[in-house]
Amino acid sequence: MSAVGFDFGNDNCVVAVARQTDIEIVLNDESECETPSIVSFGVRQRYIGTAGAAASLSNPTNTISQIKRLLGRRFSDPELQHDLKSLPFLVTKGPDGYPLIQVQYMGETTTFTPTQVLGMLLFNLKSIAEKSLNAPIADCCIGIPVYFTDPQRRAVIDAATIAGLSPLRLLHETTATALLYGIHKADLTETEQLNIVFVDIGHTSMQVCVAAFKKGELKILAHSFDRCLGGRDFDEVLFQHFAARFKDKYKIDVFGSAMACLRLRAACETLKKVLSANPEAPLNIEGLMDGKDVKGFIKREEFEKIIIPILDRLKQPLKKALDEAGLTIEDIHSVEFVGSGARVPAIIKILTDFFGKEPHCTINASECVAKGCAMQCAILSPRFMVREFQVNESFPFNIAMSWNINVSDTENGVMDDQNSTIVYPIGNPIPSVKAMTFYRYGRLTLDVLYADVMKLSGPAKISTYMIGPIPSTNGERVKLKVKVRLNIHGIVSVETAKVVDQDETGKTRKTSVHITEVLYGGLAAIDLQKAVEKEFAMALQDRAMEETKGRNNDVESNVYETQDKPAMTPTPTDKALDTDDIVQPRQDSSPQASRPTTQRLLPRAIFSITEDSDTEEPDLSFMDVPISCKNPLEQTFPCEADVASAKSMLRLFLDLRLLDLGESQRAAMLSALSVLQSSPGFSQSPAGRVLETLPAVLSDSQAATASCLELSAKLYKFRSERSRRDDLLAKKTALSSEVSQLSKDYHAEEEQVKKLKDEIVRRKEKMTSMLKRGESMQATIAQVGGEARCLGEQLASQKGSYQTWIASLQVAEHAQSACYTRWEELRRVSL
Ligand SMILES: Nc1ncnc2c1ncn2[C@@H]1O[C@H](COP(=O)(O)OP(=O)(O)OP(=O)(O)O)[C@@H](O)[C@H]1O
Ligand SMILES: [Mg+2]
Repeated sequence: MSAVGFDFGNDNCVVAVARQTDIEIVLNDESECETPSIVSFGVRQRYIGTAGAAASLSNPTNTISQIKRLLGRRFSDPELQHDLKSLPFLVTKGPDGYPLIQVQYMGETTTFTPTQVLGMLLFNLKSIAEKSLNAPIADCCIGIPVYFTDPQRRAVIDAATIAGLSPLRLLHETTATALLYGIHKADLTETEQLNIVFVDIGHTSMQVCVAAFKKGELKILAHSFDRCLGGRDFDEVLFQHFAARFKDKYKIDVFGSAMACLRLRAACETLKKVLSANPEAPLNIEGLMDGKDVKGFIKREEFEKIIIPILDRLKQPLKKALDEAGLTIEDIHSVEFVGSGARVPAIIKILTDFFGKEPHCTINASECVAKGCAMQCAILSPRFMVREFQVNESFPFNIAMSWNINVSDTENGVMDDQNSTIVYPIGNPIPSVKAMTFYRYGRLTLDVLYADVMKLSGPAKISTYMIGPIPSTNGERVKLKVKVRLNIHGIVSVETAKVVDQDETGKTRKTSVHITEVLYGGLAAIDLQKAVEKEFAMALQDRAMEETKGRNNDVESNVYETQDKPAMTPTPTDKALDTDDIVQPRQDSSPQASRPTTQRLLPRAIFSITEDSDTEEPDLSFMDVPISCKNPLEQTFPCEADVASAKSMLRLFLDLRLLDLGESQRAAMLSALSVLQSSPGFSQSPAGRVLETLPAVLSDSQAATASCLELSAKLYKFRSERSRRDDLLAKKTALSSEVSQLSKDYHAEEEQVKKLKDEIVRRKEKMTSMLKRGESMQATIAQVGGEARCLGEQLASQKGSYQTWIASLQVAEHAQSACYTRWEELRRVSL
């Protein structure tokens, strides 16, 4: 169970872990809480942190510092170009327009991206934390400057991936400080708001934040910053001052020597620190240039005069923060300063004058960011129970979105001329999700960009999203909903695009539309994977070299122990084997007499077998032992030629590094050793005694290689399982959002079903009544039918009489017409 916070500074890094009851700073191998942010590349391995800092003067061109300045910036960035002028290593323009750091590593010219170098630093910090926890890191948070842009934030995430970390949050450094301050402040109330200003001055930058505290809650009201104002500016002023002085006084131009510049800059930084606590300070550098020793001296008053232009710049971010927070100086309860750069007394004076009250340093200036991050991690981690404390973060930039206008935007021939909007304004809470609605067909191209270019030194455009094809029938515009997320790290992205319409039944239907993302800067997924593998291989190499060093020390101390035992009486053979320039013959058999010689020679000899120095060549001179001797048993010993060839073979193998040897080479080495050991007196000679340890060293080395391989396999397995886990988590998230959508749909359908049920009940009732009516009608029909039948039957029974009636009628009609005929005849007769 672990929650870890990392503060990676330009100058120093700090690691903190959340333990059972509180947050603690983790000490590195040198028992320091600050680890230099430096990676030095050697011939056989890398040196990171304190070991890297030690190499900055001896191997400056391959020692990388100030990585935070290079991260996520284009090579053409004016600020980056300015920074490069004072850096001793080579940085070139990569094919993507981003910087590439060029170093000599393992005997080859190699390039690394700043992201990879940050990955190395984080890997080292991770190891420091894991050593302290004695367990792998589960959760972590990483502090970042508030002015980090989208590509810089993405680069930190990539670097964390390279280091095998997946941060729960990238937290603004000043917010981490405010969180640590607030969670420990016992006198906060639920009603009264306490406004506190935090000022962080680090090595290269200044950050200000105005935070409002209430009980259990922190709200960031405003952020402001100056990316190029920090402790190094004071160093630079001192450097320019002394460079000019020394030109007059000693006639040396330090600008003509990169090494002299480096040494003078380092001395000026020390001088600045001394001046923070003393009214005056000396500067002495031996052999700075042209073999001349230089001496200088400065009083604090003079220092404060020459730094006035820098001090004046401090007020700007302070004013801006107050303006953005909508507060006046009277509204500020207190001012807290952090960051080691703020230790310069003149800075404290400026802060005091500006706010009309003395700033405090309640929390540890160099530990607060790491501790705040560890605290945030514990709050976010499900593994910890932390007192309720809400962090309401605010976003420091204006983020806009612009889109392409095409024919589909015209309605009745009128073009809608709006094609951009601010999606996330300054002060927007982090995280946040917003939805944008478009009426479109075909495709939509959305650009995410910074609206306020003045705040940046890089390009405004962050990313482009191509959305489409948008499904629509007959080229009709459809309603497209685009979800834009500002995630917990302060990174903006378009998350989903859905066409919203209605299906045949009138139900709302959402159809996902394909999105293609183009990021301007950052590592492509495949390059990131390669970087992860490369870091892994380099870390293995470093570890193998460190283990070899450990074994060397063991062997060396064994040899010392052997030497401390009483020496055996020298034999004639000993004498014959010792030579003047390698091993002095023992004149005396007492341990005291023999020790000076062996102590001088044996450590060098052992060192030469497995030493890992980048520069020294192995000293194999102890192998030059004369083998011809006058021994009565000469004929049973190996012949001179065999011994010579065994020696040369051993020398050859010893020239190779133990860890590089294969099985057959080890066997050959052991057989060469056995040939030598069977030569007369060799085993008693110092060389022979040294080589006695060879089989053990070889088998240790084999075991180490095997364990490295095993570890490597385990780590690969772990990584692939982790990526599988991540995939599963991503799938889980996708599924749960689908489930929530389904549940919404289900509720909508349930509503629909309810309505339908009501309708069914209504219709059932209607049907029942109709049925009843039908039944009664049927009954009526049956009755009418019965009557009709009856009538039919009656009629049928009367059928005979009916015919009789017809016949009678015909007879009657016939008689009637005969009457008429006779009547007519009669009428005619009377006329
Ligand atoms: N006693 C001191 N007096 C004056 N300056 C000091 C003192 N101690 C350290 N500094 C300066 O503080 C700076 C480093 O501060 P800090 O460790 O806070 O920076 P960082 O966090 O590594 O860098 P950043 O915050 O810019 O990323 C250096 O410039 C260093 O010279
Ligand atoms: Mg810092």
